[in-house]
Amino acid sequence: MRQNIVAGNWKMNKTLQEGIDLAKEVNQKAGNTTLNCKVVLGTPFIHITEAVKAVDKNRVSISAQNCADKESGAYTGEVSAAMVKSTGAEYVILGHSERRAYYGENEAILKEKTDLALKNELKPIFCIGEVLSERESEKHFEVVKKQVEESLFHLSTEEFSNIVLAYEPVWAIGTGKTATTEQAQEMHAFIRNLVAEKYGKETAENVSILYGGSCKPDNAKELFSNPDVDGGLIGGASLKADDFMGIIDAF
Ligand code: 13P
Repeated sequence: MRQNIVAGNWKMNKTLQEGIDLAKEVNQKAGNTTLNCKVVLGTPFIHITEAVKAVDKNRVSISAQNCADKESGAYTGEVSAAMVKSTGAEYVILGHSERRAYYGENEAILKEKTDLALKNELKPIFCIGEVLSERESEKHFEVVKKQVEESLFHLSTEEFSNIVLAYEPVWAIGTGKTATTEQAQEMHAFIRNLVAEKYGKETAENVSILYGGSCKPDNAKELFSNPDVDGGLIGGASLKADDFMGIIDAF
């Protein structure tokens, strides 16, 4: 059975103290409700160690938002997958559209990052999605197919079983514009089918595919009701515990 997951992506927000407070608040609120999904907080690197201490890991898991494409050495300013793992983080977000757009991350770099994350026993939350012009010119399926194939389809079936996918149409990120429930389901089913063709039906049935892009407490239930939408990757609404909990409670 695949897992439902609600993961927050704090992006470059919150000082260390604010981040600890938010992690503690989410942890406490998650303890007061019945959780029907896995809860993950994607914090900035410097918050991770303290965030891991601030939560009960049976309730809330911690994720990095990136890791280096190199193992170790003279790469000033980078943080390796092994370093992330050593903090107690369980997940790492890879291939976010902001990393692709602003930091030049392409399929080949993301392939390296994925391999290093898996080698260090981190679970990648691997982001894919088209920009507006690609959707308008009906290239969205082609774009997503390329992103998945070129960064992930070299993996063995066993390796691939540790991947979580996150479909984030770039035009829906931080814009207040959500994909319609039909658009989300159509793309998620397309992605699951790609996985089935490569790795077989069982692996495809087991992979969690999250939706991201202006997901809020008031639209989460509808998005998550789609058979191929297994949760969300949440930006803005993950920065307030009550909003984030509202999305978690959609399951
Ligand atoms: P928003 O929820 O702010 O649109 O961001 C989505 C996102 O990019 C999560 O990774």
